[in-house]
Amino acid sequence: MLIVNTVKALKEAVLQLKNDGKTIGLVPTMGALHDGHLSLIRRAGEENDAVVVSIFVNPVQFNNQADLIAYPRTLEADVEKIGDLADVVFAPSAEEVYAVPPTEKYDFGALEQVMEGPQRPGHFNGVGIIVKRLFDWTTPDRAYFGEKDYQQLLIIRSLVKQCGLSVQIVPCPIVREPNGLAMSSRNKRLSPAQFEVAANIHRIMLASTQLPDNTVAKAKAYVEKEIAKISEFELEYYAIADKDSLQSTDTLNNAIGCIAVWCGDVRLIDNIMY
Ligand code: PAJ
Repeated sequence: MLIVNTVKALKEAVLQLKNDGKTIGLVPTMGALHDGHLSLIRRAGEENDAVVVSIFVNPVQFNNQADLIAYPRTLEADVEKIGDLADVVFAPSAEEVYAVPPTEKYDFGALEQVMEGPQRPGHFNGVGIIVKRLFDWTTPDRAYFGEKDYQQLLIIRSLVKQCGLSVQIVPCPIVREPNGLAMSSRNKRLSPAQFEVAANIHRIMLASTQLPDNTVAKAKAYVEKEIAKISEFELEYYAIADKDSLQSTDTLNNAIGCIAVWCGDVRLIDNIMY
């Protein structure tokens, strides 16, 4: 595995792979890798001749400075976990990616007006900026994104469409801890007790899909009521929406439930299909 820190070296490595006739799968990450990330990297390896993993804590997608500072940075351990699952790891500095402050402005329309959008102003534009640059530098055949960040996945699809890119976006299922908690780099900040309490997020959402004579209103009310019973939790939103548009819906057909909840000072997101 080759580790590169500059855009120039990344492009050279990509050119070499392409000259060898290899297809490329890209897995963008912010590091602090866990089994969720590794599932994307493995999938990319199954479906492509070569795998490029990027590890970059992207400052322009953080609307909260404290979150940016607290974000775990564990490059050495990450590289070890990747082992021979990737051909190239791209781990640039912020100065390398943003030699000048970025000015790109993306418009994701109604998609960014809901859920994470209003809660994290500028977040999806920041994601769009880095992912577009990674696509331009790596020119992958396929790129892998987790359904854990479901809204982000739809934002990336919109980015690809509006920029006319030919990369194929591959959605990957959520990988969970044995207790049901969706794996996340932020889980490392939970105390052991909070880690157990946080398992209730998935348990409650799952139960809300199985209510008798279920409706959108009933499922939403159930999640809100059950989350409120747990003193460690502060619910930011629970939204049930059409899973293609993320706009509100009055039927559970084709619906997804998306949650953002604070567990102590750690913000967790998760989702479930109805
Ligand atoms: P990060 O949070 O590191 O996640 C990288 C990728 O791993 C994303 O596509 C995310 O959805 C996926 N992922 C995270 N946890 C997962 C889980 N439990 N199961 C399955 N997939 C999971 O998302 C980002 O980084 C950034 O916004 C990025 C796209 C890299 C742009 O900076």
